This record gives sequence, structure tokens and C-alpha cells, in this order.
Amino acid sequence: MNARELRQKFIQFFQEKGHTVIPSAPVLPENDPTVLFTTAGMHPLVPYLMGEKHPSGTRLVNAQKCIRTGDIDEVGDNTHLTFFEMLGNWSLGDFFKEEAIAWSFEFLTGEKWLGIPLEKLSFTVFEGDENAPVDEQAIAIWKSLGVPDHKITKLPKSENWWGPAGQTGPCGPDTEMFYWVGEGLPPKESNPGNDEENWVEIWNDVFMQYNKTAEGAFEPLEQKNVDTGMGLERAAAVLQGKKSVYDTELFGPILEKIGILSEFSYDEKINSFRVIADHLRAATIMAADRVKPSNNDQGYVMRRLIRRAIRHGKLIGIEEAFTHTIAKKVIHTLSDVYPELKHEEEILKTLSDEEEKFSKTINQGLREFEKLLSGFQKAFENTGRKITEISGKQAFKLYDTYGFPIEMTVELAKEKELTVDVKGFEEAYEAHKEKSRSLSAGVFKGGLQDHSWETTRLHTATHLMHAALIKILGPHATQRGSNITAERTRFDFQHPEKLTDEQKAEVEKYVNSAIASDHKVTMEIIPFEEAKERKAIGLFEDKYQEKVKVYDMGPWSLELCGGPHVEHLGQLGRFKIKKEQSIGAGLRRIKAVLVDKK
Ligand code: ALA
Repeated sequence: MNARELRQKFIQFFQEKGHTVIPSAPVLPENDPTVLFTTAGMHPLVPYLMGEKHPSGTRLVNAQKCIRTGDIDEVGDNTHLTFFEMLGNWSLGDFFKEEAIAWSFEFLTGEKWLGIPLEKLSFTVFEGDENAPVDEQAIAIWKSLGVPDHKITKLPKSENWWGPAGQTGPCGPDTEMFYWVGEGLPPKESNPGNDEENWVEIWNDVFMQYNKTAEGAFEPLEQKNVDTGMGLERAAAVLQGKKSVYDTELFGPILEKIGILSEFSYDEKINSFRVIADHLRAATIMAADRVKPSNNDQGYVMRRLIRRAIRHGKLIGIEEAFTHTIAKKVIHTLSDVYPELKHEEEILKTLSDEEEKFSKTINQGLREFEKLLSGFQKAFENTGRKITEISGKQAFKLYDTYGFPIEMTVELAKEKELTVDVKGFEEAYEAHKEKSRSLSAGVFKGGLQDHSWETTRLHTATHLMHAALIKILGPHATQRGSNITAERTRFDFQHPEKLTDEQKAEVEKYVNSAIASDHKVTMEIIPFEEAKERKAIGLFEDKYQEKVKVYDMGPWSLELCGGPHVEHLGQLGRFKIKKEQSIGAGLRRIKAVLVDKK
């Protein structure tokens, strides 16, 4: 079964079980996710897992675009990817363990579905600790379905607990399903706990029944949810008996194209081929969600991916511009699933512009790097002292003059068995007063930090500011990212130039007039068409859903959102812009606060 069929079957199966298909959320979190990128299907659903009402009901299914950059250095092996698709289904306070496990079992083993023989499967459940008991219920349900004892392994929290996505939020024990990839049939004593090599996790059912608080406590959630996730590429590979995700049809056409451009074959340069395929797939997906390469946040991660792909292109003898050619293949393999990929021209331009920028300096930069190495060699010949570390200053020059992301310099150095003084680099960087602080991916979070009252108030204020920006600067001034904590809101939006003092004052005035009106805030679930007619903010043609959830603040704001918000605007206090700055071409950032708290 190829990946396309697997995706379709998964969605069809859960539709037949009363689930509504929802579109994939962007990889760039829009409203509530708590990390830099969307890393799991549940992220965009956090408000609904916490009890907000979802416009599509209480049973949902989709394929979600996910980006995980934690293992970027592992990309090139058989299983790691920065971009992957997660198939998932959810119960928002609807069904719970009984149905979730029975349906997982039916989908995996049913003849009409995946038809996997039970011998080739194994299951793990949570063994219990001081926060939550052993999951006896899950064990009993698996057994009632005919799973023998030796196929159910109890494992600790490190293995069988999922979430929260960020520091706080919904989480719970899970039960995971593994597929046998070893020779023949599994011996009875082999299980995912003692034989990791031969068992590959293909699906995870999480029972989200706890909320982890900022203090580290696990409070039972009022609403009991189910969150499941199946990594599409990995599941497709094992079901096809393939060793690697790169051997599936999702990568075939991309690797083939790289082979045509390269002087080498895939087998000769497997690592570079895979790095290029993975990184440009991720960068294409990001571009479709309108991320732009920059020195900040998500843009920096994207820049890193594109530049690393270009360097690996050089390693396999690709001299001409090629990112757009590979991106076209990515678009071709995925655009029917993710319609935002249809903005082909814009996506290709984003990649090509970055490639053009970097191609001007990469060769010189590589020569500079070689010069460093020969300097080290000479020093060794003259003094007998071996230099094994590239200094922070040298790394900074490679970054500042030649556009080498620090991670690239570290990689180059590693190939020559050298290290880099990364701390020294960061100091040099700070000393040059760069505005960006996002050198290590993952430190910046998007969306709401928590659901505290302070954060909720700033979230409502952010809606008012968004409406004000659109009214005052024009319809282009839409959101590109947000990060809201209990102290302040940070809001990124499109606008080509610095805001004047008058414009900032106008924005403040708009928001403060809205607050003074004390208009009530209501949530409504309305048809997409009606939201369009009423000119709700945050509507995307290619994210078409039958029904959408909006927060209505009367004449002041109407915006698509998961919540939560305050009940009436008078609860906000006084709104004040603290800072307005550029964060890249055509992008601005505002930091604002609420004072005179109510
Ligand atoms: N959120 C769960 C996971 O990512 C399903 O595994």
C-alpha cells in the first residue's frame, strides 16, 4: 500500500466512524500552538482539548503537516525527517478508550483496511507512576479484542505518556502500536521494550485526561479526549517492507530528480541526496505557508534548511540553481492534499530568491573556510601545536560575510574533525547587536503561552490590534505569527515600512476605544460563506471548512479563532504599544502590553 492509499484509507475509516475531516493547519502556528512549528496534529487543537467548542464537532480526523527540527542532524538516516505528515483522529470529550482502541485494532488488522496479521503487531501501555495509575483499562480492552498477554508491554512515562506540547497543557497516558520489521515472525519474548531494533512504532493513541500546570502538577481535565497520531511516511515504509522512508513514493520522484542533476548516483551519496530531499520538502511546505527565510524564528530555520541543501548540492556536483526544480517535484507529490501548495509561483520565488542570495557568497565562504584550515595546518608545521577549534570570531565572519548559518560551520568543521566555539560565536553575534535572538531553533514559541487570565486578556487585545492594523494600514497588514504571554503580546504582521508615530497612536486609540465601549465578546460557529461575507479576519480560501469558529467583538473585530477570550472588552485595562520593529523583508513586529489592569 502506498502512502497515498494509506492517507485516504485512514481518513475514510474515521469518516465512517462519524469523524469530520478538517484541513491541515499551517506549519506556522496561527493562534494557539505552543511551539515554533506545528509538531503534531494535536497542536492546533489545544484550545479544543481544553474545552473550547470546535466548529466541526467532537470527532475529527486529518492529515497534518508537521515540522520537527530537534533531530535535524539525524536527517539522512532511514527514519528522520524534518517535515512529515501525521495522520490523526480526535475525540473532544466524545468517545474514549473503548472505542479508540477498538477502532485502532480494526483499522490495523481489518481485511478491508490494513489487514496486518496480529502476529506482526505488539502493543505498549502506561505502567503507572505517582501521577497516574497503570492503564488497566487499556490492557483489558486490548485483551478483549484477542491480543494475547505477551503482546502487551507495560512501559514507564518516558515511553507511554504524551504531551504536553509545550510546557503546560493537555497530556496523558498513551498506548502505542508497533509493527515487526525483523526476519520471519517475532519470537514470543520479543517486545518493543526489549527489542527496539525490530519493532517500529506506527501509531499512538493518547488519552488526554490531564492538564499539566505551570507548577508541574497533573490535574484531571474535565473533558476526556483522545488524540491519535500515525506518522505517514514511516507507516507507509514499514507496511511496504521498506527499510527507509526515502524508499516510498513520496520521495521517489524527488530523489530521481536530484540524481539527474547530480554527478553521482543515490547509492554513492545517499546522505546528501536525503538531506536535500528532506530539507527542500520542508522548505517548500514552509514557503506554501508563507514563511520567508530570515534571521529570526521560523525564517531562520527555513534559511538553515535551504542553505544546508544548497551546500549538499555542491557536495554532489550540482552547480546550477536547483531548489525550484526540486520544489516543483514536492508540489507535484503533495498539492492535491495540501492546496496551499498551489501557489506555485510564489513558493518557487521564495526558494529561488534565497538560493540566489546564498549562491553569491557560498563559494567565497567555502574558500574562506579552506583558508582557515590551511592556516591551522601552517601553525601546526611552525609550532607543532594542533588547533582543533574554529574561534567564535572566525565563525561569526563566515556567518556575517558569507551567510553561513552557525550550524553549517559546525557541520563543515565536524567533517574535518574540528569543533567550533559556538559560545564565542554567540558573543560575537550579540556584540554586533543583531536583533535576532533565535540562533537555536526551539527557543521561540508561537501562540498562547498558557491559558491564564492575563494571557487571555492579551489575546483579546491582540484581536483588537490586528483589526486596527488592517483598518489603519490596509488589508495587507495581516498576522504572520504571534506569541502571547501573561506579560505582553508579540505580534508579527505584513507591512513594508516602519509605522509612523501617528499610525501607532491610531492603533492604540482604536484598541482603547474598543475597550472603553466595553462591548461583549461572543463566540459563534458560522458557515464559511457567512464568515466571508462578514469579512472575518483570518479566512483562507484554501483552508476551506464548512463551518468556522469566530470571535465577535461587535464593530471592533471579527476573527477566526479557537479562543479563549474575555467576556467583555472592559476587562482589558489600557492598551499600549511598547515596541515596533522590522523582522525581515516586508515583516514587522509589535510588542504591546495592557496597563491599568482591571
Ligand atoms: N500527539 C501524539 C503524537 O504525536 C499522537 O504521537
